[in-house]
Amino acid sequence: MSYRQAKWSEPTVFELARHGAVGVDFPELDEELKQALDEVLNEIPEQLKRRELNFLELSELDVVRHYTRLSQMNFGVFSGMYPLGSCTMKYNPTISEEVVSYEEIYNCHPLQPVETVQGCLEIIWRLEQILKEITGMSRFSFQPAAGAQGEFLGCLIIRAYHKDKGLDYKNVMIVPDSAHGTNPASATMAGYEVKVVKSDEDGCVNISELEKIVDKRVAGIMLTNPNTLGLFEKNIEKIVDIIHSVDGLLYYDGANLNALLGKVRPADMGFDIVHLNLHKTFSTPHGGGGPGSGPVGVIDKLVDYLPSPLINYDESRNFYYLDYDRPKSIGRMKMFYGNFTVLVKAYVYLLRMGGEGLRKVAESSVLSSNYLLHKVKKLQGVTLPYAPESYRKHEFVVSLSKLYKETGVSARDVAKRLLDYGFHAPTIYFPLIVDEAFMIEPTESESKREIDAFYDALSSVINESYKDPEKVKTAPHNTSIGRIDEVRASHPKTMIPSWRVYVTRRERL
Ligand SMILES: Cc1ncc(COP(=O)(O)O)c(C=O)c1O
Repeated sequence: MSYRQAKWSEPTVFELARHGAVGVDFPELDEELKQALDEVLNEIPEQLKRRELNFLELSELDVVRHYTRLSQMNFGVFSGMYPLGSCTMKYNPTISEEVVSYEEIYNCHPLQPVETVQGCLEIIWRLEQILKEITGMSRFSFQPAAGAQGEFLGCLIIRAYHKDKGLDYKNVMIVPDSAHGTNPASATMAGYEVKVVKSDEDGCVNISELEKIVDKRVAGIMLTNPNTLGLFEKNIEKIVDIIHSVDGLLYYDGANLNALLGKVRPADMGFDIVHLNLHKTFSTPHGGGGPGSGPVGVIDKLVDYLPSPLINYDESRNFYYLDYDRPKSIGRMKMFYGNFTVLVKAYVYLLRMGGEGLRKVAESSVLSSNYLLHKVKKLQGVTLPYAPESYRKHEFVVSLSKLYKETGVSARDVAKRLLDYGFHAPTIYFPLIVDEAFMIEPTESESKREIDAFYDALSSVINESYKDPEKVKTAPHNTSIGRIDEVRASHPKTMIPSWRVYVTRRERL
Protein backbone atom coordinates (compact mmCIF):
# COMPACT_ATOMS: atom_id res chain seq x y z
CA MET A 1 0.00 0.00 0.00
CA SER A 2 2.85 2.37 0.76
CA TYR A 3 4.24 4.42 -2.11
CA ARG A 4 7.38 5.19 -0.16
CA GLN A 5 9.59 2.33 0.81
CA ALA A 6 12.19 4.54 2.45
CA LYS A 7 12.12 4.36 6.23
CA TRP A 8 13.92 6.10 8.99
CA SER A 9 15.02 2.66 10.12
CA GLU A 10 17.40 2.45 7.18
CA PRO A 11 20.97 3.47 8.00
CA THR A 12 21.92 7.11 7.71
CA VAL A 13 25.11 8.34 6.02
CA PHE A 14 26.70 8.51 9.45
CA GLU A 15 26.04 4.84 10.00
CA LEU A 16 27.04 3.89 6.47
CA ALA A 17 30.41 5.65 6.71
CA ARG A 18 33.39 3.33 7.06
CA HIS A 19 37.05 4.01 7.21
CA GLY A 20 38.75 3.63 3.84
CA ALA A 21 35.61 3.94 1.69
CA VAL A 22 36.23 6.18 -1.31
CA GLY A 23 33.69 8.02 -3.41
CA VAL A 24 35.87 10.43 -5.38
CA ASP A 25 39.47 10.12 -6.55
CA PHE A 26 41.39 13.37 -6.66
CA PRO A 27 44.28 13.66 -9.11
CA GLU A 28 47.83 13.86 -7.69
CA LEU A 29 48.99 17.43 -7.18
CA ASP A 30 51.79 18.43 -9.51
CA GLU A 31 55.03 19.75 -7.97
CA GLU A 32 54.35 23.39 -8.78
CA LEU A 33 50.93 23.30 -7.15
CA LYS A 34 52.29 21.40 -4.13
CA GLN A 35 54.91 24.09 -3.60
CA ALA A 36 52.38 26.89 -3.93
CA LEU A 37 50.13 25.13 -1.41
CA ASP A 38 52.99 24.66 1.04
CA GLU A 39 53.78 28.34 0.82
CA VAL A 40 50.22 29.26 1.67
CA LEU A 41 50.11 26.73 4.52
CA ASN A 42 53.36 28.03 5.98
CA GLU A 43 51.83 31.46 6.28
CA ILE A 44 49.01 30.22 8.50
CA PRO A 45 49.90 30.42 12.22
CA GLU A 46 50.29 26.95 13.80
CA GLN A 47 47.58 27.54 16.43
CA LEU A 48 45.01 28.19 13.70
CA LYS A 49 45.71 25.01 11.78
CA ARG A 50 43.22 22.20 12.03
CA ARG A 51 44.78 18.98 13.38
CA GLU A 52 42.25 16.56 11.98
CA LEU A 53 39.38 16.61 9.54
CA ASN A 54 36.62 14.11 10.17
CA PHE A 55 34.89 13.79 6.86
CA LEU A 56 32.53 10.88 6.42
CA GLU A 57 34.12 8.25 4.23
CA LEU A 58 31.58 6.78 1.84
CA SER A 59 31.56 5.02 -1.49
CA GLU A 60 29.83 6.63 -4.45
CA LEU A 61 27.06 4.05 -4.29
CA ASP A 62 26.46 4.80 -0.59
CA VAL A 63 26.05 8.47 -1.40
CA VAL A 64 23.77 7.91 -4.38
CA ARG A 65 21.58 5.55 -2.35
CA HIS A 66 21.48 7.98 0.54
CA TYR A 67 20.16 10.83 -1.60
CA THR A 68 17.78 8.58 -3.50
CA ARG A 69 16.38 7.37 -0.20
CA LEU A 70 15.93 10.95 1.04
CA SER A 71 14.13 11.88 -2.16
CA GLN A 72 11.75 8.97 -1.64
CA MET A 73 10.84 10.27 1.79
CA ASN A 74 9.55 13.41 0.23
CA PHE A 75 6.27 13.95 -1.51
CA GLY A 76 6.02 16.24 -4.49
CA VAL A 77 3.90 16.80 -7.52
CA PHE A 78 6.22 14.39 -9.35
CA SER A 79 5.37 11.62 -6.86
CA GLY A 80 1.61 11.80 -6.99
CA MET A 81 -1.55 13.85 -6.89
CA TYR A 82 -1.34 16.94 -4.72
CA PRO A 83 -4.95 18.15 -4.35
CA LEU A 84 -4.08 21.06 -2.07
CA GLY A 85 -7.00 23.44 -2.55
CA SER A 86 -6.09 27.13 -2.74
CA CYS A 87 -2.41 26.21 -2.94
CA THR A 88 -2.58 24.70 -6.39
CA MET A 89 0.16 22.19 -6.88
CA LYS A 90 -0.06 21.35 -10.49
CA TYR A 91 2.33 19.84 -12.94
CA ASN A 92 5.30 21.91 -13.96
CA PRO A 93 6.07 20.97 -17.57
CA THR A 94 9.57 19.68 -18.19
CA ILE A 95 10.03 22.06 -21.09
CA SER A 96 9.88 25.01 -18.66
CA GLU A 97 12.68 23.46 -16.59
CA GLU A 98 14.67 22.82 -19.72
CA VAL A 99 14.44 26.41 -20.89
CA VAL A 100 15.47 27.88 -17.53
CA SER A 101 18.54 25.68 -17.59
CA TYR A 102 19.82 27.37 -20.78
CA GLU A 103 23.09 29.09 -20.05
CA GLU A 104 21.77 32.42 -21.40
CA ILE A 105 19.08 32.34 -18.72
CA TYR A 106 20.77 31.01 -15.62
CA ASN A 107 24.14 32.66 -16.15
CA CYS A 108 22.68 36.08 -16.63
CA HIS A 109 23.36 38.55 -13.80
CA PRO A 110 20.99 41.35 -12.77
CA LEU A 111 23.87 43.81 -12.56
CA GLN A 112 24.85 43.32 -16.21
CA PRO A 113 24.44 46.43 -18.37
CA VAL A 114 21.03 46.45 -20.08
CA GLU A 115 22.62 46.19 -23.54
CA THR A 116 23.83 42.69 -22.58
CA VAL A 117 20.51 41.43 -21.19
CA GLN A 118 18.18 42.52 -23.96
CA GLY A 119 16.86 38.96 -24.39
CA CYS A 120 15.97 38.63 -20.72
CA LEU A 121 14.25 42.00 -20.66
CA GLU A 122 12.36 41.06 -23.79
CA ILE A 123 11.08 37.88 -22.09
CA ILE A 124 9.74 39.89 -19.16
CA TRP A 125 8.24 42.51 -21.46
CA ARG A 126 6.55 39.87 -23.61
CA LEU A 127 5.27 38.07 -20.52
CA GLU A 128 3.77 41.36 -19.40
CA GLN A 129 1.93 41.76 -22.71
CA ILE A 130 0.35 38.31 -22.31
CA LEU A 131 -0.66 38.91 -18.69
CA LYS A 132 -2.18 42.24 -19.69
CA GLU A 133 -4.28 40.43 -22.26
CA ILE A 134 -5.35 37.76 -19.78
CA THR A 135 -6.33 40.19 -17.01
CA GLY A 136 -7.24 43.37 -18.88
CA MET A 137 -4.80 45.39 -16.74
CA SER A 138 -2.62 48.19 -18.15
CA ARG A 139 0.79 47.41 -16.67
CA PHE A 140 2.48 44.88 -14.39
CA SER A 141 5.33 44.90 -11.90
CA PHE A 142 7.20 41.62 -11.57
CA GLN A 143 9.00 42.43 -8.36
CA PRO A 144 6.83 40.65 -5.75
CA ALA A 145 8.30 37.26 -4.90
CA ALA A 146 5.03 35.76 -3.65
CA GLY A 147 1.30 36.28 -3.72
CA ALA A 148 1.33 37.77 -0.24
CA GLN A 149 4.00 40.27 -1.25
CA GLY A 150 1.86 41.17 -4.25
CA GLU A 151 -1.07 41.85 -1.92
CA PHE A 152 1.12 44.03 0.26
CA LEU A 153 2.27 45.94 -2.81
CA GLY A 154 -1.35 46.31 -3.94
CA CYS A 155 -2.28 47.82 -0.57
CA LEU A 156 0.68 50.22 -0.74
CA ILE A 157 -0.45 51.30 -4.20
CA ILE A 158 -3.97 51.95 -2.91
CA ARG A 159 -2.53 54.07 -0.08
CA ALA A 160 -0.26 56.01 -2.44
CA TYR A 161 -3.15 56.67 -4.82
CA HIS A 162 -5.49 57.96 -2.12
CA LYS A 163 -2.75 60.10 -0.59
CA ASP A 164 -2.02 61.60 -3.98
CA LYS A 165 -5.70 62.43 -4.44
CA GLY A 166 -5.90 64.06 -1.00
CA LEU A 167 -7.98 61.18 0.39
CA ASP A 168 -5.52 60.02 3.02
CA TYR A 169 -8.24 59.67 5.66
CA LYS A 170 -9.12 56.40 3.94
CA ASN A 171 -7.83 53.77 6.34
CA VAL A 172 -10.20 50.80 6.16
CA MET A 173 -9.78 47.70 4.02
CA ILE A 174 -12.69 45.30 3.64
CA VAL A 175 -12.01 41.59 3.48
CA PRO A 176 -14.65 38.81 3.25
CA ASP A 177 -14.72 36.15 5.97
CA SER A 178 -13.86 33.53 3.34
CA ALA A 179 -10.63 35.33 2.35
CA HIS A 180 -7.19 33.81 2.30
CA GLY A 181 -5.40 34.70 5.54
CA THR A 182 -2.74 36.67 3.70
CA ASN A 183 -5.35 39.29 2.65
CA PRO A 184 -6.09 40.75 6.10
CA ALA A 185 -2.42 40.30 7.05
CA SER A 186 -1.21 42.30 4.02
CA ALA A 187 -3.78 45.05 4.59
CA THR A 188 -2.80 45.30 8.27
CA MET A 189 0.90 45.47 7.37
CA ALA A 190 0.11 48.33 5.01
CA GLY A 191 -1.50 50.19 7.92
CA TYR A 192 -5.18 49.54 7.25
CA GLU A 193 -7.87 48.70 9.74
CA VAL A 194 -9.45 45.50 8.46
CA LYS A 195 -13.23 45.14 8.45
CA VAL A 196 -14.63 41.71 7.76
CA VAL A 197 -17.73 41.29 5.62
CA LYS A 198 -19.75 38.14 6.17
CA SER A 199 -20.66 35.60 3.53
CA ASP A 200 -24.25 34.84 2.65
CA GLU A 201 -25.81 31.37 2.78
CA ASP A 202 -24.87 31.09 -0.88
CA GLY A 203 -21.18 31.56 0.00
CA CYS A 204 -20.90 34.96 -1.68
CA VAL A 205 -20.41 38.40 -0.10
CA ASN A 206 -23.47 39.47 1.82
CA ILE A 207 -24.41 42.69 0.02
CA SER A 208 -26.51 44.25 2.77
CA GLU A 209 -23.68 43.61 5.29
CA LEU A 210 -21.28 45.23 2.83
CA GLU A 211 -23.50 48.26 2.44
CA LYS A 212 -23.62 48.62 6.22
CA ILE A 213 -19.84 48.84 6.63
CA VAL A 214 -18.95 50.92 3.60
CA ASP A 215 -18.38 54.61 4.30
CA LYS A 216 -15.95 57.27 3.13
CA ARG A 217 -13.13 55.79 5.24
CA VAL A 218 -13.10 52.67 3.06
CA ALA A 219 -9.99 52.48 0.88
CA GLY A 220 -10.93 49.27 -0.85
CA ILE A 221 -11.92 45.62 -0.78
CA MET A 222 -9.76 42.56 -1.35
CA LEU A 223 -11.64 39.82 -3.16
CA THR A 224 -10.86 36.38 -4.48
CA ASN A 225 -13.11 35.43 -7.36
CA PRO A 226 -13.91 32.55 -7.54
CA ASN A 227 -13.71 32.75 -3.76
CA THR A 228 -12.05 30.18 -1.55
CA LEU A 229 -15.24 28.09 -1.51
CA GLY A 230 -14.81 27.75 -5.26
CA LEU A 231 -17.86 29.95 -5.90
CA PHE A 232 -18.04 32.81 -8.35
CA GLU A 233 -19.12 36.11 -6.75
CA LYS A 234 -22.31 36.54 -8.71
CA ASN A 235 -22.86 40.07 -7.36
CA ILE A 236 -19.47 41.29 -8.42
CA GLU A 237 -20.84 44.22 -10.43
CA LYS A 238 -22.89 45.40 -7.45
CA ILE A 239 -19.84 45.12 -5.17
CA VAL A 240 -17.78 47.16 -7.66
CA ASP A 241 -20.43 49.91 -7.69
CA ILE A 242 -20.61 50.04 -3.89
CA ILE A 243 -16.83 50.33 -3.43
CA HIS A 244 -16.28 52.74 -6.31
CA SER A 245 -19.11 54.96 -5.03
CA VAL A 246 -16.89 55.95 -2.07
CA ASP A 247 -13.71 56.26 -4.20
CA GLY A 248 -12.52 52.88 -2.97
CA LEU A 249 -10.49 50.49 -5.11
CA LEU A 250 -11.03 46.81 -5.80
CA TYR A 251 -8.14 44.46 -5.27
CA TYR A 252 -8.33 41.09 -7.02
CA ASP A 253 -6.51 38.24 -5.32
CA GLY A 254 -5.75 36.26 -8.47
CA ALA A 255 -3.55 33.66 -6.80
CA ASN A 256 -5.63 30.95 -8.45
CA LEU A 257 -6.68 32.15 -11.86
CA ASN A 258 -6.93 28.74 -13.54
CA ALA A 259 -10.74 28.63 -13.46
CA LEU A 260 -11.10 31.90 -15.34
CA LEU A 261 -8.29 31.82 -17.88
CA GLY A 262 -9.53 33.05 -21.23
CA LYS A 263 -13.09 33.26 -19.89
CA VAL A 264 -13.38 36.35 -17.70
CA ARG A 265 -10.94 39.17 -17.06
CA PRO A 266 -10.59 40.85 -13.64
CA ALA A 267 -10.47 44.32 -15.28
CA ASP A 268 -13.78 43.63 -17.05
CA MET A 269 -15.34 42.66 -13.73
CA GLY A 270 -14.35 46.12 -12.46
CA PHE A 271 -11.19 45.35 -10.49
CA ASP A 272 -8.46 48.00 -10.30
CA ILE A 273 -5.50 45.93 -9.10
CA VAL A 274 -4.68 42.28 -9.43
CA HIS A 275 -1.93 39.95 -8.33
CA LEU A 276 -1.31 36.60 -9.97
CA ASN A 277 0.62 33.71 -8.53
CA LEU A 278 2.85 32.60 -11.39
CA HIS A 279 4.04 29.85 -9.04
CA LYS A 280 0.57 28.33 -8.99
CA THR A 281 -1.47 29.12 -12.05
CA PHE A 282 1.38 29.43 -14.51
CA SER A 283 3.38 26.26 -14.06
CA THR A 284 5.94 26.65 -11.26
CA PRO A 285 4.79 24.43 -8.38
CA HIS A 286 3.78 26.28 -5.24
CA GLY A 287 5.16 25.35 -1.89
CA GLY A 288 8.27 24.20 -0.15
CA GLY A 289 9.40 27.78 0.35
CA GLY A 290 10.85 27.86 -3.14
CA PRO A 291 11.06 31.00 -5.23
CA GLY A 292 7.72 32.38 -6.28
CA SER A 293 6.39 35.29 -8.26
CA GLY A 294 3.33 37.39 -7.51
CA PRO A 295 3.26 40.07 -10.24
CA VAL A 296 0.89 42.96 -9.67
CA GLY A 297 -1.14 44.50 -12.48
CA VAL A 298 -3.03 47.78 -12.32
CA ILE A 299 -5.42 49.80 -14.42
CA ASP A 300 -4.29 53.02 -16.12
CA LYS A 301 -4.84 55.45 -13.26
CA LEU A 302 -2.58 53.42 -10.93
CA VAL A 303 0.40 52.79 -13.24
CA ASP A 304 2.41 55.72 -11.80
CA TYR A 305 2.48 54.09 -8.37
CA LEU A 306 3.94 50.71 -9.43
CA PRO A 307 7.43 49.94 -8.11
CA SER A 308 10.42 51.03 -10.15
CA PRO A 309 11.90 50.12 -12.50
CA LEU A 310 9.37 49.16 -15.16
CA ILE A 311 10.69 47.53 -18.29
CA ASN A 312 9.90 49.62 -21.35
CA TYR A 313 10.47 49.06 -25.06
CA ASP A 314 11.74 51.75 -27.37
CA GLU A 315 10.51 50.65 -30.79
CA SER A 316 12.62 53.19 -32.73
CA ARG A 317 15.84 51.69 -31.30
CA ASN A 318 14.46 48.16 -30.86
CA PHE A 319 15.76 48.46 -27.32
CA TYR A 320 14.45 47.36 -23.90
CA TYR A 321 15.33 49.61 -20.97
CA LEU A 322 14.63 50.07 -17.28
CA ASP A 323 12.52 53.08 -16.42
CA TYR A 324 13.40 54.59 -13.04
CA ASP A 325 12.07 58.04 -13.82
CA ARG A 326 8.77 57.56 -12.02
CA PRO A 327 8.40 60.09 -9.20
CA LYS A 328 5.09 58.70 -7.83
CA SER A 329 6.33 55.11 -7.60
CA ILE A 330 5.94 53.49 -4.18
CA GLY A 331 9.62 52.42 -4.44
CA ARG A 332 11.08 48.94 -4.56
CA MET A 333 9.55 45.70 -3.35
CA LYS A 334 12.48 43.48 -4.13
CA MET A 335 15.85 43.75 -5.76
CA PHE A 336 16.06 43.80 -9.53
CA TYR A 337 13.23 42.26 -11.56
CA GLY A 338 11.82 39.65 -9.18
CA ASN A 339 12.43 35.91 -9.48
CA PHE A 340 13.46 35.79 -13.10
CA THR A 341 13.44 32.02 -13.65
CA VAL A 342 9.84 31.77 -12.44
CA LEU A 343 8.97 34.44 -15.00
CA VAL A 344 10.70 32.46 -17.74
CA LYS A 345 8.80 29.29 -16.80
CA ALA A 346 5.51 31.18 -16.91
CA TYR A 347 6.38 32.64 -20.30
CA VAL A 348 7.28 29.23 -21.74
CA TYR A 349 4.08 27.75 -20.33
CA LEU A 350 1.93 30.54 -21.77
CA LEU A 351 3.53 30.28 -25.21
CA ARG A 352 3.09 26.52 -25.27
CA MET A 353 -0.54 26.70 -24.18
CA GLY A 354 -1.67 29.57 -26.39
CA GLY A 355 -5.10 31.17 -26.00
CA GLU A 356 -7.01 28.01 -26.81
CA GLY A 357 -4.88 25.92 -24.45
CA LEU A 358 -5.49 28.35 -21.60
CA ARG A 359 -9.23 28.22 -22.15
CA LYS A 360 -8.99 24.44 -21.93
CA VAL A 361 -7.12 24.81 -18.63
CA ALA A 362 -10.08 26.75 -17.27
CA GLU A 363 -12.56 24.19 -18.57
CA SER A 364 -10.62 21.15 -17.36
CA SER A 365 -9.92 22.57 -13.91
CA VAL A 366 -13.63 23.29 -13.41
CA LEU A 367 -14.74 19.98 -14.90
CA SER A 368 -12.32 17.95 -12.76
CA SER A 369 -13.38 19.76 -9.61
CA ASN A 370 -17.11 19.27 -10.26
CA TYR A 371 -16.66 15.65 -11.32
CA LEU A 372 -14.88 14.88 -8.06
CA LEU A 373 -17.28 16.96 -5.97
CA HIS A 374 -20.25 15.13 -7.44
CA LYS A 375 -18.83 11.85 -6.09
CA VAL A 376 -17.36 13.12 -2.81
CA LYS A 377 -20.49 14.90 -1.60
CA LYS A 378 -22.35 11.58 -1.58
CA LEU A 379 -19.91 9.95 0.83
CA GLN A 380 -21.16 9.14 4.31
CA GLY A 381 -20.27 11.86 6.85
CA VAL A 382 -19.53 14.44 4.14
CA THR A 383 -21.62 17.58 3.60
CA LEU A 384 -21.33 20.48 1.18
CA PRO A 385 -22.01 23.74 3.02
CA TYR A 386 -22.99 26.94 1.17
CA ALA A 387 -25.04 26.59 -2.00
CA PRO A 388 -25.01 22.76 -2.03
CA GLU A 389 -26.80 22.66 -5.36
CA SER A 390 -24.40 25.01 -7.15
CA TYR A 391 -21.47 24.04 -9.29
CA ARG A 392 -18.02 25.00 -8.07
CA LYS A 393 -15.14 26.42 -10.07
CA HIS A 394 -11.60 24.97 -9.81
CA GLU A 395 -11.92 23.80 -6.19
CA PHE A 396 -14.50 22.90 -3.58
CA VAL A 397 -14.77 22.72 0.20
CA VAL A 398 -16.70 19.99 1.96
CA SER A 399 -17.26 19.70 5.69
CA LEU A 400 -16.34 16.57 7.64
CA SER A 401 -18.07 17.72 10.82
CA LYS A 402 -20.78 15.05 10.45
CA LEU A 403 -18.08 12.41 10.18
CA TYR A 404 -16.39 13.87 13.26
CA LYS A 405 -19.62 13.80 15.27
CA GLU A 406 -20.42 10.24 14.22
CA THR A 407 -16.96 8.67 14.52
CA GLY A 408 -14.61 11.07 16.31
CA VAL A 409 -12.47 11.13 13.14
CA SER A 410 -11.51 14.68 12.21
CA ALA A 411 -10.59 16.30 8.89
CA ARG A 412 -6.96 16.21 10.07
CA ASP A 413 -7.17 12.44 10.69
CA VAL A 414 -8.62 11.80 7.22
CA ALA A 415 -5.90 13.97 5.68
CA LYS A 416 -3.19 12.00 7.52
CA ARG A 417 -4.66 8.64 6.52
CA LEU A 418 -4.72 9.69 2.86
CA LEU A 419 -0.94 9.90 3.02
CA ASP A 420 -0.88 6.15 3.63
CA TYR A 421 -2.70 5.71 0.33
CA GLY A 422 -0.09 7.73 -1.55
CA PHE A 423 -1.96 11.01 -1.87
CA HIS A 424 -0.92 14.36 -0.52
CA ALA A 425 -3.54 15.68 1.87
CA PRO A 426 -5.97 18.35 0.67
CA THR A 427 -6.02 21.70 2.47
CA ILE A 428 -7.78 21.39 5.83
CA TYR A 429 -9.43 23.84 8.25
CA PHE A 430 -9.55 26.59 5.62
CA PRO A 431 -11.60 28.62 4.83
CA LEU A 432 -12.46 29.32 8.44
CA ILE A 433 -16.19 29.61 7.76
CA VAL A 434 -16.49 25.84 7.18
CA ASP A 435 -16.43 23.50 10.14
CA GLU A 436 -13.92 20.62 9.70
CA ALA A 437 -13.15 22.06 6.27
CA PHE A 438 -11.69 19.77 3.64
CA MET A 439 -10.70 21.75 0.56
CA ILE A 440 -9.93 19.82 -2.60
CA GLU A 441 -8.50 20.97 -5.90
CA PRO A 442 -7.74 18.23 -8.40
CA THR A 443 -6.32 20.79 -10.89
CA GLU A 444 -6.43 20.61 -14.65
CA SER A 445 -3.28 18.49 -14.72
CA GLU A 446 -4.75 15.27 -13.31
CA SER A 447 -6.34 12.58 -15.44
CA LYS A 448 -9.74 11.03 -14.73
CA ARG A 449 -7.96 7.82 -13.70
CA GLU A 450 -5.93 9.68 -11.07
CA ILE A 451 -8.98 11.60 -9.82
CA ASP A 452 -10.92 8.33 -9.53
CA ALA A 453 -8.02 6.78 -7.61
CA PHE A 454 -8.07 9.71 -5.21
CA TYR A 455 -11.81 9.32 -4.75
CA ASP A 456 -11.40 5.56 -4.06
CA ALA A 457 -8.75 6.31 -1.44
CA LEU A 458 -10.93 8.93 0.23
CA SER A 459 -13.90 6.64 0.17
CA SER A 460 -11.84 3.84 1.81
CA VAL A 461 -10.65 6.21 4.52
CA ILE A 462 -14.23 7.28 5.25
CA ASN A 463 -15.29 3.61 5.47
CA GLU A 464 -12.40 2.88 7.80
CA SER A 465 -13.48 5.84 9.95
CA TYR A 466 -16.76 4.09 10.66
CA LYS A 467 -15.32 0.57 11.02
CA ASP A 468 -11.98 1.19 12.70
CA PRO A 469 -11.68 4.86 13.70
CA GLU A 470 -8.51 4.25 15.75
CA LYS A 471 -6.66 3.27 12.60
CA VAL A 472 -7.50 6.62 11.00
CA LYS A 473 -6.89 8.64 14.16
CA THR A 474 -3.37 7.27 14.50
CA ALA A 475 -2.44 7.56 10.83
CA PRO A 476 -0.17 7.81 8.94
CA HIS A 477 1.23 4.32 9.33
CA ASN A 478 3.16 3.80 6.10
CA THR A 479 5.14 7.02 5.82
CA SER A 480 8.69 7.77 6.82
CA ILE A 481 7.58 9.58 9.96
CA GLY A 482 4.46 8.79 11.96
CA ARG A 483 2.17 11.43 13.40
CA ILE A 484 4.03 14.24 15.05
CA ASP A 485 2.83 16.86 17.51
CA GLU A 486 1.96 19.61 15.02
CA VAL A 487 2.05 22.42 17.54
CA ARG A 488 5.50 21.51 18.81
CA ALA A 489 6.71 20.68 15.34
CA SER A 490 5.93 24.08 13.92
CA HIS A 491 6.54 26.37 16.87
CA PRO A 492 10.12 27.66 16.78
CA LYS A 493 10.53 27.59 20.57
CA THR A 494 9.36 24.05 21.09
CA MET A 495 10.34 22.67 17.71
CA ILE A 496 11.63 19.15 17.89
CA PRO A 497 15.01 19.03 16.18
CA SER A 498 14.86 16.67 13.23
CA TRP A 499 17.33 14.26 14.84
CA ARG A 500 14.94 13.88 17.80
CA VAL A 501 12.09 12.93 15.44
CA TYR A 502 14.45 10.44 13.93
CA VAL A 503 15.46 8.96 17.28
CA THR A 504 11.87 8.81 18.53
CA ARG A 505 10.75 7.05 15.41
CA ARG A 506 13.62 4.63 15.40
CA GLU A 507 13.09 3.80 19.04
CA ARG A 508 9.52 2.89 18.21
CA LEU A 509 10.50 0.64 15.34
C1 LIG B 1 -6.25 32.82 -2.55
C2 LIG B 1 -4.82 33.01 -2.17
N1 LIG B 1 -4.36 34.24 -1.96
C3 LIG B 1 -3.07 34.47 -1.64
C4 LIG B 1 -2.17 33.45 -1.51
C5 LIG B 1 -0.76 33.77 -1.08
O1 LIG B 1 0.20 33.40 -2.02
P1 LIG B 1 1.70 33.09 -1.55
O2 LIG B 1 1.67 31.80 -0.82
O3 LIG B 1 2.49 33.03 -2.81
O4 LIG B 1 2.14 34.22 -0.68
C6 LIG B 1 -2.59 32.14 -1.70
C7 LIG B 1 -1.64 31.05 -1.53
O5 LIG B 1 -1.82 29.92 -1.55
C8 LIG B 1 -3.96 31.91 -2.05
O6 LIG B 1 -4.43 30.68 -2.26
